[in-house]
Amino acid sequence: MTALDLPATVPVLGVRNLSVSYNDVHALDDVTMSLGAGRICGLIGVNGSGKSTLFKALMGLVVPRDGSVELFGMSSASARKQGLVAYMPQAEEVDWTFPVSVSDVVAMGLYGRLGAARRLRAADRAAVDDALERVGLSELRKRQIGQLSGGQRKRVFIARSIAQDARLLLLDEPFAGVDRASERTMTALLKALRDEGRSVLVSTHDLAGVPELCDEAVLLHRRVLAQGDPFQVLTHGNLALAFGPAPAAPAAPPAPSVATVGSTAAPAAAPAAPPAAPNGES
Ligand SMILES: Nc1ncnc2c1ncn2[C@@H]1O[C@H](COP(=O)(O)OP(=O)(O)OP(=O)(O)O)[C@@H](O)[C@H]1O
Ligand SMILES: [Mg+2]
Repeated sequence: MTALDLPATVPVLGVRNLSVSYNDVHALDDVTMSLGAGRICGLIGVNGSGKSTLFKALMGLVVPRDGSVELFGMSSASARKQGLVAYMPQAEEVDWTFPVSVSDVVAMGLYGRLGAARRLRAADRAAVDDALERVGLSELRKRQIGQLSGGQRKRVFIARSIAQDARLLLLDEPFAGVDRASERTMTALLKALRDEGRSVLVSTHDLAGVPELCDEAVLLHRRVLAQGDPFQVLTHGNLALAFGPAPAAPAAPPAPSVATVGSTAAPAAAPAAPPAAPNGES
């Protein structure tokens, strides 16, 4: 079964009671969430709240202590094998000195459907060209990835997902170090991908950008503090639980106005007992 054959009731992403530990560090505790087709979900939380760990668990890169992860109703490994999911790790976790060009990286998105020889046919080269065009990087296609700016590197990953025709994009902090103009361009691109029926889970510290970009949000602090409509999630009360009392909540639509919260230190432990979240999650 392909993703496009899936019954509407099967979530693109389904996480149930997920707990992940690194030895004695409990990074995620009893996380339950799901995401449907054609939705963008913002993943928000202080440094160390478990966002990257959640992405890694979704990709099958860390083994859960408890609970389960399903992508398109199947295991992460099966979904990856079918090219249904694309992952952009946090920038710090990528080796940018790796000697590959921009178009090589984008072509990697096609490897799943190429034979063992990985020889690109004309249609594959066209898919790479189209993807680069879409993210505005055609001119830089021959450049080594280490010689790109931070924002350009992020666009390379998105181009790779597009070439791959991934149905789910897992983007760990794609806006970190990206200027406002590039952020706006990337936001428009992600919304266009969403409108094609793709789903996106995106972690971000830019709270102001969440209502504009996201259909829903998850506020994480080792466990899920709140999830649902961005304005119901990003309340003063919930933000105080997640970040401490300082940051301001977004203004009511249509003109949200929130400072970027990027450097808030992680509290030593998650809040012991958050109040009931708007949708009943706790
Ligand atoms: N490989 C590891 N070994 C041990 N502990 C780890 C490892 N990776 C992450 N952790 C710990 O797990 C917790 C969650 O880390 P994670 O990287 O998922 O947070 P994050 O929300 O992505 O943070 P940031 O906003 O800084 O990227 C932190 O306490 C972190 O120190
Ligand atoms: Mg992280």
